[in-house]
Amino acid sequence: MAYETLIVEIEDYVALIRLNRPDALNALNSKLLSELATALHAADADDAVRCIIITGSEKAFAAGADIKEMSQKSFVDMFSSDFFAGDSDAILRTRKPIIAAVSGYALGGGCELAMACDFIICSDTAKFGQPEINLGVVAGIGGTQRLTRFVGKSKSMDMHLTGRFMDAAEAERCGLVSRVVPAKDLLTEVKKVAAKIAEKSMLTTMVVKECVNRSYETTLREGILFERRVFHALFATEDQKEGMAAFLEKRQPQFRDR
Ligand code: HXC
Repeated sequence: MAYETLIVEIEDYVALIRLNRPDALNALNSKLLSELATALHAADADDAVRCIIITGSEKAFAAGADIKEMSQKSFVDMFSSDFFAGDSDAILRTRKPIIAAVSGYALGGGCELAMACDFIICSDTAKFGQPEINLGVVAGIGGTQRLTRFVGKSKSMDMHLTGRFMDAAEAERCGLVSRVVPAKDLLTEVKKVAAKIAEKSMLTTMVVKECVNRSYETTLREGILFERRVFHALFATEDQKEGMAAFLEKRQPQFRDR
């Protein structure tokens, strides 16, 4: 499918979704978010996709929601359309794993989009920030909630109240990103990580994602019970039998996603 604001390539079971509004540093407008929702839905339904990467350009993952599009809107416009709610929730409905590959600016809605992915790998040029305060607004796609859970209250308050940017080293130190790689190697490295994920059982992969995400939504006791029950349930699958047999027979498992 052809998109106006995205470039999507599927290769070796990995869907690479590139945000493509270079003139606006990939600012997220309604068109881009709606196309992203469509692309994620399509990737989730496609048997040729086992892992998804969302990336931007070398200069910007995304410099935030599109300020030109938003600037003249009224409260009634924003509230009535529940601005960005439906399309930004699409990322949360995606059951296959999503890696954010961030180079350059990931600001405002761009930082929020990266945090809504399952994990973030960034280049050493990455800059994260929630500068909405400078525009007289607050984050609107989960930034105050997710950044606080990633990095703790003190640093989250610092970021949201001052609007300052965080570099890649700080982002790795405080747990916002899982790995930092040289800018020139970003996509190669992220594709290797995606390939590693793609070779697992898709069934187990989706279950792992549900379990980890559950830790954000519930109490520790309930989360541990959920995990244990899911662990038990996986013994009903062929992939559990295959995975354990392969270990004992000292060979690579052949998972069949069932
Ligand atoms: C619209 C944007 C944009 C944005 C950049 N551009 N960010 N357009 N919305 N968020 C456009 C600029 O207007 C400019 O267009 C072109 O991209 C290049 O940007 P420059 O500013 O000239 O580049 P540079 O000097 O390198 O500075 C880069 C930057 C700066 C530091 C990233 O662009 C910046 O501060 N951008 C805004 C960041 C921000 O405040 N984000 C939060 C948005 S609010 P022209 O046509 O002039 O060449 C938000 C809320 C989310 O995200 C919640 C929604 C529900």
